[in-house]
Amino acid sequence: MGANVILIARNKELLNEVSDKLHGNNHAVFSFDLQEFNDYPNLVNDIVGKFGKIYGFIHSAGKEASIPINALRPKIFQDVFSLNTISFFEMVRLISKNSNVESSASYIAISSVMGFLGQPGKLSYCSSKAALINGVKALSLELAPKKIRVNCISPGIVETPMVKDLFEKISPENQIAIRKAHPLGFGQTIDVANACIFLLSNASKWITGTNLVLDGGYSSQ
Ligand SMILES: NC(=O)c1ccc[n+]([C@@H]2O[C@H](COP(=O)([O-])OP(=O)(O)OC[C@H]3O[C@@H](n4cnc5c(N)ncnc54)[C@H](OP(=O)(O)O)[C@@H]3O)[C@@H](O)[C@H]2O)c1
Repeated sequence: MGANVILIARNKELLNEVSDKLHGNNHAVFSFDLQEFNDYPNLVNDIVGKFGKIYGFIHSAGKEASIPINALRPKIFQDVFSLNTISFFEMVRLISKNSNVESSASYIAISSVMGFLGQPGKLSYCSSKAALINGVKALSLELAPKKIRVNCISPGIVETPMVKDLFEKISPENQIAIRKAHPLGFGQTIDVANACIFLLSNASKWITGTNLVLDGGYSSQ
């Protein structure tokens, strides 16, 4: 869509692979561990110093956790929340300084249908994603005076490596049942990307603090 894209994750090889698929050549990759909060200020300064102010930000990094409550410990909660939730809030805090952000910027947190539905064994994941859905409401109000918009996207199952890992742990019968529970089938990454394009663009300029559910009908039942 003509944007210059900065890609952030740990695996540089995969980042380069994604970058090579983008049109245009004003993109960049940063190999960075989002669990290292102390390094965030340098990362943001580096990006803004090299590429200028930020127009949009999508936080997609996340980890799935299927752990029954009797095996959960505070350390596991902290780990899941730190990547899925606090990482988004902390990045928003730093990006939102006037020197780092364009007015009318748009931020998106990738939550999940598990942020408003429950499932056994998913306490840490569900609660980390629920915190994003309500967190964007608070952020949207706080950042509205700067005309910055903040929204969530909540996907159902999207065919990615995360889902491949998850499906390796469950029976074929369960896999069929999960597929059937998505009336329009599983989503593809392009479905999430298209929703991000909408929320980043001016076509959504009056939308803030909301949660856009993309789940092929999963949560309508
Ligand atoms: N797939 C689904 O069905 C589904 C459904 C609902 C919501 N979601 C949410 O959508 C988001 C993306 O999921 P996905 O399915 O694409 O997951 P994925 O295939 O496991 O990819 C996760 C991404 O996060 C990055 N990441 C993980 N830990 C990181 C860290 N410490 N620092 C920096 N980057 C890190 C990974 O890159 P590196 O490993 O290179 O760091 C990778 O790019 C997640 O928040 C997930 O909860 C997914």
